[in-house]
Amino acid sequence: MAIISDDDNIKFNKRKSKDTTSEETSYDMSFEVNIRPKYFDEYIGQSALKSNLKISIEAAKKRELPLDHILFYGPPGLGKTTLASVIASEMNTNIKITSAPSLERPRDIIGILMSLKAGDILFIDEIHRLNKISEEILYPAMEDFYLDMTTGKSQTLKSVRIPLPKFTLIGATTKAGALSSPLRDRFGLIHRLEFYTDDELTKVIQRTAKILDIDIEKEGATAIAKRSRGTPRIANRLVKRVRDFAIVKSNGLIDSATANNALDILQIDKFGLDNTDRALLNIIADKYNGGPVGIETLATALGEDTKTIEDVYEPYLVQKGFIQRTPRGRKLTPFACKCFHFEDTDFQQRLF
Ligand code: ADE
Repeated sequence: MAIISDDDNIKFNKRKSKDTTSEETSYDMSFEVNIRPKYFDEYIGQSALKSNLKISIEAAKKRELPLDHILFYGPPGLGKTTLASVIASEMNTNIKITSAPSLERPRDIIGILMSLKAGDILFIDEIHRLNKISEEILYPAMEDFYLDMTTGKSQTLKSVRIPLPKFTLIGATTKAGALSSPLRDRFGLIHRLEFYTDDELTKVIQRTAKILDIDIEKEGATAIAKRSRGTPRIANRLVKRVRDFAIVKSNGLIDSATANNALDILQIDKFGLDNTDRALLNIIADKYNGGPVGIETLATALGEDTKTIEDVYEPYLVQKGFIQRTPRGRKLTPFACKCFHFEDTDFQQRLF
């Protein structure tokens, strides 16, 4: 399986070449790629989704046709790109990985579509950020596997139809709602990725530790899992930070005490929240009387952009039941007030 990738786990160096239509990609595969699961039996979690995909893959193989186009949506770090690569391995086909911001010009998307071979998978990350022109190029490519191009100038303008090989597009987005309906409707399979349970993350951490030769007890893995916000990418990052701590401060073994100490020092609390999460909750409590407060106001007060709050911080805070989205803005929940000791504030009475 060949991978041309700009995935978030793979270090990606884009090189714009002067005389080519598309961007070349290169990547450092020295370490991260090794910890990525390659087949379904190595991929932990998302069990309902995996079962569905296995059936679709088996059916496609039996029919000797490529898979339907697939859309994955959900918060960042849950393994959308990894899953696309797993699908390619299971289908025994090539995958080309790119993201919408690198498909700015029509020739970028045309170039990549024309480079595909029959059965290939094209993975487009952040697909909601595709511009209108690129989207419109994609419609006939997805639906009937051809490109509509115009050649010549004014009076001699001619429309040509270029056939494409049958391929599968896998799109990924953190914002399914931001996709235009014509684009969304062209995906045969639409799947949401869920946050991982502590148990699943414990297994992810144990697997990663084994590959990286990190000495870890199950309790140590669970301690890290509990503070990883349901997200494998965070779990894998934390295990490496805790490993460094274990090497310097203890004998290299990650047990529960070492993991908890390290995570306390990294200021990641028992809910997995970091300083920015806590600052966000404190701002709603202290400056806006518990909310509701508009996202723009919140972003300004926090010094973050709205997109980062919406995509990175908010989904987990909502999922944990710490904040609520309302038509008038974000507000704290009674649960957040209890967990973070905002009980003695006057907004308690007013809000709940
Ligand atoms: N590493 C990151 N995500 C993973 C997953 N879902 N299963 C196994 N290892 C992983």
